[in-house]
Amino acid sequence: MTGLAWRSRLPGLRFLAVGLALGAASWFVLIGLLLCVALVVTLPLLPHVARVARELAAFERRRVGRFLGTPVPAPPEPPTWDLATVLTDPAVRRDLTWLLFQATGGLLAGAVAVGAPAGAAQNAVIAAVGPFVPGVTTTLDAPVTSWGGAVVALATALGYGAAGWLLVPPLAGWCARVGVARLAPPEPTLVERLAEVTATRADALEAHGNELRRIERSLHDGTQNRLVAVVMHLGMAERALRRDPGAVLPMLLTAQNAASDALAELRDVVRGIHPPVLADRGLTGAVASLVAHCAIPCSYDERPVPRLPAAVEAAAYFVVAEALTNAVKHSGATRITVRLGLDGGLLRVEVVDDGRGGADEALGTGLLGIRHRVAAFDGVTEVDSPAGGPTALRAAIPTGV
Ligand SMILES: Nc1ncnc2c1ncn2[C@@H]1O[C@H](COP(=O)(O)OP(=O)(O)O)[C@@H](O)[C@H]1O
Ligand SMILES: [Mg+2]
Repeated sequence: MTGLAWRSRLPGLRFLAVGLALGAASWFVLIGLLLCVALVVTLPLLPHVARVARELAAFERRRVGRFLGTPVPAPPEPPTWDLATVLTDPAVRRDLTWLLFQATGGLLAGAVAVGAPAGAAQNAVIAAVGPFVPGVTTTLDAPVTSWGGAVVALATALGYGAAGWLLVPPLAGWCARVGVARLAPPEPTLVERLAEVTATRADALEAHGNELRRIERSLHDGTQNRLVAVVMHLGMAERALRRDPGAVLPMLLTAQNAASDALAELRDVVRGIHPPVLADRGLTGAVASLVAHCAIPCSYDERPVPRLPAAVEAAAYFVVAEALTNAVKHSGATRITVRLGLDGGLLRVEVVDDGRGGADEALGTGLLGIRHRVAAFDGVTEVDSPAGGPTALRAAIPTGV
């Protein structure tokens, strides 16, 4: 029980410890920014330092997104990194306010989180060796010359442990929330919102058009071809019936095979429009079936999800299907984890593989298709795939219910 509870503290501890390192790095960047401005002649270097700040902020955005399980949207990349951009871009100002927080609050919270277990361990060692080694004191300067002193050192260790135990979750939550508040782009204005809705509507229409073309191609190239073969073989059989009735049977069998193939093709096309497994078993069941048929060992962290609008279920299903296909095709992973859950009005989908990473939307159409599909519901997709791995694809889709 205690072990499990300790483990529940570990993600927060790790988050704060990395925050401590980021806090130290933030100091360097802040000093760099200040020097660039103060020395005037170094002003042209300001965009370069601002870019480093943006990279740190992007790292933090991904980290906070992972910690909270909600992708933090990134600001658009400016077309050029020049002095004018740095001085006018609101995103640069947000990076700066985050740096200030990370260099102070984030650093302090990280120091407390790392210091508490370290202090506990140090005092525990002191309690054990203190009575045997002269001149030893606890980290709070109490002498440990006797067994009584050892008890005081042990109590100090417990005090440090308890402080870490109690403080890590609220501190991690606080740092993550401040990170989101500083780093997420502000709520869009109505005009920006309208532009976004217009763009996603165009995306949705385009996705719909692509889907129609795909279905048309499958029907045209697959099913229609097979049916033409059926008609052709039946025609041949009809002609043979008059001349050579003995040759009819193989032709009829060929026609029958072609008809069966046409049926199978049709079934595939229909499955691609709205997988029947979704209608039969709901989203969780359908995803479980994808997971069960995956070529790489795959675990499924399934939370209860009620029936949702068919379009939302289909979008989430295709997200998982494409992410699994990509993991099998490109990642070289040995394990995949799929998570699905409802969080307020958001359906969250996450597929993580431990493969080589380096997923890039510019290299194919699958990831872009996912982004468009999810954006059509006003949802957010995040692909986190550093070179060397791991790869995580997260999507949050508003369910509209
Ligand atoms: N899980 C993954 N691990 C490693 N690389 C990936 C992963 N997913 C995608 N990629 C890379 O990103 C590219 C784009 O993926 P995608 O848009 O799905 O296109 P496609 O799968 O058709 O190649 C892939 O070609 C591959 O190089
Ligand atoms: Mg793909």
